[in-house]
Amino acid sequence: MWPLVAALLLGSFCCGSAQLLFNKTKSVEFTFCNETVVIPCFLTNVGAQNTNEMYVKWKFKGKYIFIFDGGQNNATADSNFSSAKIAVSELLKGDASLKMDKGDAKVGNYTCEVTELTREGETVIELKYRVVSWFSPNENILVVIFPILAILLFWGQFGILTLKYKSNCTNKKIILLLIAGLLLTAIVIVGAILFVPGEYSVKNASGLGFIVISTGILILLQYNVFMTAFGMTSFTIAILITQVLGYVLAVVGLCLCIMACIPVHGPLLISGLGIIALAELLGLVYMKFVASNQRTIQAPRKAVEEPLNAFKESKGMMNDE
Ligand SMILES: *[C@@H]1O[C@H](CO)[C@@H](O)[C@H](O)[C@H]1NC(C)=O
Ligand SMILES: *[C@@H]1O[C@H](CO)[C@@H](O)[C@H](O)[C@H]1NC(C)=O
Ligand SMILES: *[C@@H]1O[C@H](CO)[C@@H](O)[C@H](O)[C@H]1NC(C)=O
Ligand SMILES: *[C@@H]1O[C@H](CO)[C@@H](O)[C@H](O)[C@H]1NC(C)=O
Ligand SMILES: *[C@@H]1O[C@H](CO)[C@@H](O)[C@H](O)[C@H]1NC(C)=O
Repeated sequence: MWPLVAALLLGSFCCGSAQLLFNKTKSVEFTFCNETVVIPCFLTNVGAQNTNEMYVKWKFKGKYIFIFDGGQNNATADSNFSSAKIAVSELLKGDASLKMDKGDAKVGNYTCEVTELTREGETVIELKYRVVSWFSPNENILVVIFPILAILLFWGQFGILTLKYKSNCTNKKIILLLIAGLLLTAIVIVGAILFVPGEYSVKNASGLGFIVISTGILILLQYNVFMTAFGMTSFTIAILITQVLGYVLAVVGLCLCIMACIPVHGPLLISGLGIIALAELLGLVYMKFVASNQRTIQAPRKAVEEPLNAFKESKGMMNDE
């Protein structure tokens, strides 16, 4: 560093004009999340008292893309970098950084050339692009796993319903539940396919939307399964309330994640989905539990009320054991 400075000073002494010095930055990065991109160019020894003594030129791939002529107080930008600008008010503090919209930013080496009366200097900064995944790999997995788990558990409930509670349900109800369940499964699969890991995009945001919004159907399905099987008990109400809360968390998390480029609320979304799956699991366990209780306790009572059903049930019972 010091030999370089000494060489520059010597150089300036010999030629009678001083060199402008920069706080050198080798490279800067931007990601999908940068709305604007700033390529830094800081001078450390500005002597000018007025910007009309300064002239700033930015070069990219051998072409001038931005020129600020202090004498004319005129800034011109190339048509391919139409949003490029510098903060003229910061120039006397040594800041000649180029700002542009992300859409105009192209990766590569940019040269910042500054002239101040008789002094001049230039520095090269490389602009790089970094791909950042919208969600972390673990989050990606959980976002897909929880809803799929919840759907499998629903199919488990559906299985118990059709096998153990045959007597309580009409064919129409079963068919409706079957259709709704298949529809939900299809939506979540489509969502999971769209929600490929990678940068934020409309595609994976809509995939996430499909997955999260459609899990609300699970609440309706589970409600109908309970109603068909044995009606509401305080336990099923608690399960459904838990599931609604999980859904609210997931939807709030979804909105926050879609609004922000970096989804800091991923854990909120995921815990919502986890709670939905947990409620589905509790529902399944409870159904299994009630089903095994009913066989021993309620079957005799039913035998008086509904001899035919009881007959069917006892047949089912014998098959199981
Ligand atoms: C992009 O945004 C990040 C975070 O806000 C910032 O640190 C970085 O300097 C920006 N990159 C560019 C090239 O402007
Ligand atoms: C240049 O860098 C030095 C040390 O890194 C810092 O003290 C100084 O403020 C910087 N100057 C400008 C104009 O950014
Ligand atoms: C700035 O300079 C360019 C060319 O040098 C010219 O076409 C343009 O009209 C000037 N703009 C202003 C505001 O003077
Ligand atoms: C803008 O970019 C395109 C392709 O990169 C190039 O062909 C064209 O010459 C550029 N236009 C200007 C004014 O630099
Ligand atoms: C920019 O310049 C550096 C150093 O000269 C070089 O290693 C790099 O490959 C260049 N980058 C591009 C995109 O040309």
